[in-house]
Amino acid sequence: PENDALARAESLIGVIPDYPSPGILFRDITPMLADAAALRACIGALVEPFAGRFDVVAGIEARGFLLAGAVAAAAGVGLVPIRKAGKLPRPAVSVDYALEYGTATIEAHDDLPEGCRVLLLDDVLATGGTLAAAQRLVGRLGCVVAGSAVLLELDGLGGRALAGDDVHTLFHA
Ligand code: PRP
Repeated sequence: PENDALARAESLIGVIPDYPSPGILFRDITPMLADAAALRACIGALVEPFAGRFDVVAGIEARGFLLAGAVAAAAGVGLVPIRKAGKLPRPAVSVDYALEYGTATIEAHDDLPEGCRVLLLDDVLATGGTLAAAQRLVGRLGCVVAGSAVLLELDGLGGRALAGDDVHTLFHA
């Protein structure tokens, strides 16, 4: 039954051609999120390998927030947002990373307890740049990466080379 729910969840992730720009195949997780059984199955499967081994969940803007909130509530831990630059009101640690053209910056408030074990969550692993930057950010905060989990890994983009071979992935495309 759990596998059925996950298979159904996978089938609810849409593929939208030419969004947000021509040539891009956008993965739309909103139909999965809107389905109670599919969402519950995904949240359970994302956290399952890390059960009892993290102190807080960190979600990566923007769609990682949607998963992180649900995982945090289900696991009984708190939630930390990892945001794009300039969105956080208090002192934050920043990490820059390379994009295909240019660079991006992510930030988190610098107030986690030393040694805090952080489970990182995002929707999609593509080139791995974002998740790798989030891992560096956790280290810069004086915390420890308990694990990294994504719903969907886009195979062939080599994301694991940057984000590590131990990323926990539910689905592949
Ligand atoms: C997408 C996705 C991941 C990231 C993956 O976010 O949600 O965070 O890209 O790509 P990478 O593995 O190549 O780094 P996006 O930058 O579109 O931000 P958004 O969620 O705020 O729209």
